[in-house]
This record gives sequence, structure tokens and C-alpha cells, in this order.
Amino acid sequence: NAVELGDYSHYMQKEIFEQPQALSNTLEMISGAGQLQPGIFGAEAADIFPQVDSVLIIACGTSSYAGLTAKYWIEQVAGIACNVEIASEYRYRQSVANPKQLVVVISQSGETADTLAALHHAKAQGHTYTLAICNVPESAIVRETALRFITRAGPEIGVASTKAFTTQLSALFLLTLLLAKANHRLSEDDEKAYLDELRHLPIAVDKVLALEPSIQAWSNHFANKHHALFLGRGRHYPIALEGALKLKEISYIHAEAYPAGELKHGPLALVDSEMPVVVVAPNDEMLEKLKANMQEVSARGGQLYVFADGGSAVKPSDGVHVLQMPEHYGLLSPVLHVVALQLLSYHVALVKGTDVDKPRNLAKSVTVE
Ligand code: G6P
Repeated sequence: NAVELGDYSHYMQKEIFEQPQALSNTLEMISGAGQLQPGIFGAEAADIFPQVDSVLIIACGTSSYAGLTAKYWIEQVAGIACNVEIASEYRYRQSVANPKQLVVVISQSGETADTLAALHHAKAQGHTYTLAICNVPESAIVRETALRFITRAGPEIGVASTKAFTTQLSALFLLTLLLAKANHRLSEDDEKAYLDELRHLPIAVDKVLALEPSIQAWSNHFANKHHALFLGRGRHYPIALEGALKLKEISYIHAEAYPAGELKHGPLALVDSEMPVVVVAPNDEMLEKLKANMQEVSARGGQLYVFADGGSAVKPSDGVHVLQMPEHYGLLSPVLHVVALQLLSYHVALVKGTDVDKPRNLAKSVTVE
């Protein structure tokens, strides 16, 4: 491969550790900026963004979970309705097109057949406000949208997406801020504060990477299990989905994610001491509700593996394992928590001895239907 592994054992590990650099490269244009300019999404963005009355995000796999995280951001910060659709469904579904809707396609490769076909479908339905968030500038998807943002994660070789995901999230946060500005929902002070948080993100991610030894120690508890459950709420529910997907993809352990409030509508029936339950538990508005959900798991003998952070105050006890994330990170906290989950799945896969970079039956880029 043209990209060297260097000191790393796998491309996935290398790409996990490249995330601070990938983020600072992707966010380079805001390094000195006090204000965001719509032009970072293309010359026409300044005309299009003020017209947008809703957002439709279309993607597959990990890219769709970046979209789902952005739904929480866009509705909360920009006050604009946002929906997320799986490309393979949208392309064949009868939907109602709204010409004022911004259609956002997200794809690491820019070549995923279903995402490209979904974009064609959207355009055929009359959508002209189209935006691609993509990691490959010369890819098919990027050539066909009115607007574009190229993430600068660099080549991603590992089949399981890592640095592409976190850079997509950073791009989607920039989009959120620009839509909020266009919708007159963002004060200058808030804009400055959010930009500062974005600029600090690479350092914050670095601190999460330093947790690797503790996460590695947890991985031994998962390697002999057949099932795992991932819980999150609010903007961390999509991160639970991504954590479960990563574990499935590379360790072949059946993993499911649920918004924790849904526990009692099904998954609680599966909880016993043989099914580890991973909880994404930052100190946010949903924490108290989430703690009640954790209690429901503990009461049934479930083993909890909790990623908490400053202020979460989750006490370790019998059956409750707690890992303290380095800092609480507000709206951008999904970016930090997903890095911890990437490391968890990577180390579980190492213990199991699977082919981490090329998991069975999966392809890096699905260019045929
Ligand atoms: C495959 C890859 C995933 C990726 C998905 C979407 O399933 O294994 O890692 O998330 O395709 O790919 P895209 O290039 O469109 O983001």
C-alpha cells in the first residue's frame, strides 16, 4: 500500500491516532477566523443557505451516523428541521420533495453506489440545493452537487471508518453554525465560543487517545461475549449506534444500540450478566434520565461499562465499570466519545485476532448495489 503503516500494527489504529491531525487539517480555514464565511461550502452557499427551510441528510453506514448526530445539532442550534435517510431506502421510496430543502449527501469515498443514486434521485425530484461532504475531492458525488465540503482526513485504508467520521462531524458542525447564522440564531459571541471549541478539538481528542491503556484493559471483558448493548441518549445516541457498528464490523460480536429510553420496550429482556452494556454518559441534559436507565440494567444483573466525563458523577461499583473522559465537551462531546468507542472495538478485535483492517465480507467502498 502507498500509505505506510509506520509504527502502527494496523491502518485502523493508525487512522484512529491520526484524528487530531485530520481534524486540524479539516478545520484549517478557521484557524484564525473570528467569523465563519459560507464560502467554505462553495461559492453559491451565501445565496443558498438563507433560502433553506429544512435539511435532508442522506448517507450509508458510518456516514449516516454522522448525519444523525448533525440532526441534533442542526435542530438545536440552527432551529431548522432536519431528517436523515439511509440512501438505499431513500432512492426507492416515494417521498415528497421540497425545493427549499438542503439535501446533504455524506460519503467518505464519494463513490458509494446507493448514496450516488440517492443524489440522482433527489435531483430528479427537483432538488437543486445539494451539498456533498466528502473525503475524496475528485469523487463522483462531489462532481454532482451545487455545494461541497472536502474533509481532509487523508486516505482512509481501514474498512471500518474512523477519521473520516470525526472529520465529517467537524464539517457538519460548521454547517450547523452557518445555517444558524443564516437563520439569525447565532450571536457573535456564541459563534466565537463555538469556533474556539472547534479549534481546541484536536487537543481534546489527543487526551482521549491517552486513555488507550484503560480501554484496552476493558477489551478483555468483551472478547469472549457473543452480544453487547450500546446505550446513549440525545446527540450521543448516534454515537452508541456507531460504537455498536464498529464492534460488529471488526470483532464479529453482535452489538445493538438503543436510545436508552427505549430499554424497557424490548432490549431489557436480553440483559443478563453475559451481555456487557456500554453507556455513553457525558454530563449533559440527559444524564439524570440515563442514570435511571443504567439502574434498570444493574437491577437485572447487567454489567455496565460507562464512558462518563467531568461532572457525570457515576460511581464505580460491583458490575459498574467507569471510565472518566478527560473533559466535558458540550455539543461537540460526540466527537470525543466516539474515539473512545473506536479504541474499544479495535482492542476487542485484537484480542479476538480478527483481520482488523479487512473484516470478512465487508468492502471499504460499496460501489455496486
Ligand atoms: C462501507 C464502509 C463503511 C462506510 C460505508 C459508507 O460500508 O465499510 O466504513 O461507512 O461504506 O461509505 P462512504 O464512503 O459512502 O462513507
